[in-house]
Amino acid sequence: MNKLPQHVSIIMDGNGRWAKSRGLDRVKGHIAGVESVRACLEEAAESGVRYLSLYAFSEENWNRPQAEVMALMELMMDSIKKEFQSLMKNNIRFVVLGNRSRLSDKLNASIDELMEASKDNDRTTLIVFLSYSGKWDLMQAMKKAAATLSPEQFQALDAEGFSQYLVTAGIPDPDLLIRTSGELRISNYLLWQSAYTEFYFTDVLWPDFRKPQFREALAAYAERDRRYGKVK
Ligand code: IPE
Ligand code: IPE
Ligand code: MG
Repeated sequence: MNKLPQHVSIIMDGNGRWAKSRGLDRVKGHIAGVESVRACLEEAAESGVRYLSLYAFSEENWNRPQAEVMALMELMMDSIKKEFQSLMKNNIRFVVLGNRSRLSDKLNASIDELMEASKDNDRTTLIVFLSYSGKWDLMQAMKKAAATLSPEQFQALDAEGFSQYLVTAGIPDPDLLIRTSGELRISNYLLWQSAYTEFYFTDVLWPDFRKPQFREALAAYAERDRRYGKVK
């Protein structure tokens, strides 16, 4: 199927509302959301999607109550431990992108361990955007480019060259970006990389977004006509 997106990205939103509607603590919604991650990763790998990226925690999310931030970081830690073997068995490459300097040493060590162990896996790449924001990415790229290049080289930089300084260097831009929970915004996600991405918004809350919903999004994508500004 040539209409299969190579890179599917998801803004996993609505965990809090999912929990609230059940009279549960918000954290229970995040825990339920991990099951959706597993389901979507399985479906992505089975359908031949090469890259699945997930917006797990934004730079702005650091401003949430400390207890929720801590619970989310612990959940990340737990998930890495629990899913380690299954990711290896299923030949999944694991990558974390974002402002890693804000993560704890312990979490960074676990992330590094799984990234290193899975670096040659080549079925599907799972990218988790953690402590990420699009503006942060653009800023760090600009600073890195300015620090590495001579003024002449910097002036000669084109869009493709600049992309190499973003944390997503080497990863194709997302073809399809899904956002759950009915919010119609990008919330400082992949600002540069989503220039020609197809958007898919659904009211389904993230903990309810499983294989059938993922397949529905792939089917919607297959109907899209991508023109990239040209006339067809
Ligand atoms: C998404 O769910 C998870 C993160 C942003 C970490 P939310 O926690 O934003 O859930 P809602 O939007 O409050 O329902
Ligand atoms: C976006 O969700 C970030 C993640 C899903 C990680 P938010 O819930 O933080 O976004 P806003 O605040 O509704 O824009
Ligand atoms: Mg939200």
